[in-house]
Amino acid sequence: MKLSNILRGSGTLAALVLLAACAGEYPQSSIDPKTDFAQVIHDLYGLVTWFTLVILIVTWGLLAYVLVRFREKPDSGTPKQIHGHLGLEVAWTIVPALIVVAIAVPTVRAVFATQRPADEGAMVVEVVGHQFWWEFRYPDGVVTANELHLPVDRPVSLQLHSLDVIHSFWVPMLGGKRDVNPLRAVPEGDEQRYNWLHFTPNEVGEYMGQCAEFCGPSHSLMGLRVVVESQADFDAWRAEWQEGHALPAPAAELAEGLDAETVVQGRELVMNSTCLACHAIRGTPAQGRVGPNLTLLGRRSTLAAGWLDNSVESLVRWITAPQDVKPGVKMPGVDAPGGNFPPTGYTPEQVQAIAQYLYSLR
Ligand code: CUA
Repeated sequence: MKLSNILRGSGTLAALVLLAACAGEYPQSSIDPKTDFAQVIHDLYGLVTWFTLVILIVTWGLLAYVLVRFREKPDSGTPKQIHGHLGLEVAWTIVPALIVVAIAVPTVRAVFATQRPADEGAMVVEVVGHQFWWEFRYPDGVVTANELHLPVDRPVSLQLHSLDVIHSFWVPMLGGKRDVNPLRAVPEGDEQRYNWLHFTPNEVGEYMGQCAEFCGPSHSLMGLRVVVESQADFDAWRAEWQEGHALPAPAAELAEGLDAETVVQGRELVMNSTCLACHAIRGTPAQGRVGPNLTLLGRRSTLAAGWLDNSVESLVRWITAPQDVKPGVKMPGVDAPGGNFPPTGYTPEQVQAIAQYLYSLR
């Protein structure tokens, strides 16, 4: 390949990289902090970047100088040998040691800042990792899945544990990763055993997260979303959750594309099925605790731990063959068993009715 072609090729590549850096949004950016916790990490990252940039410039500058100044000339003989030069040996031992110390001090400070105890008046939310979804339990009994609602500017303490294997909670814009460990029989009051994450979100928005510890075949599909909203919106969401779905939604309040009769039919199917063994819907006989709580499900923006957009079509796809969407999931499909349950054997019409009912929960 000709040199000019290589240069042109690498120029195009560089332009593409630059363009990619400008275009689009980064829902999981780790350099766009939205909490005090994430800010601490970000500041440290910035500091280390500046340190390394200065080191880079100095070393490359020296290298360039040496290459030019001491390049081989026609009449140059053997250069002066400096092996074992005491001054140089001392210099290149001490200088890196000083740099390491200079980086270590703010690093240790950041470690302590992000491991500090909870802020006064923090709202404690229990975060439970499952294969392959997230459960969030609030102090007043509200339970939801995969979409964590938090009020803005209010300290929160996430109490993390898992009911199966090790997961890792990671919402980059809110803070660093934290392991979600399986804990059984923790003595009452012994809260040290849990892993905790304390932070105060400072901007309304939706922040994407991801399980960051390999936990099985669908580890990479174990996403989550954090909705940071005003205190008023948060309170309204909690109140509406508490209200639940004792009755099917009236026809006038149904989302577009839903049919009132089909919704009622779907509700009937769900309430007389094995769905109840695992799922809960507030205000109904469905009180299962093994699977995600489905109260206000229609409001969530995604299904299957962030993997599918929430729509009737996605629900149909999910209910029909969950294993095809998320390998290893413990829910049975129409033709395939799941967890300890046999296939459901629903007809397409029944699946459609159940999907419409679930989508009407809002
Ligand atoms: Cu849960 Cu990876």
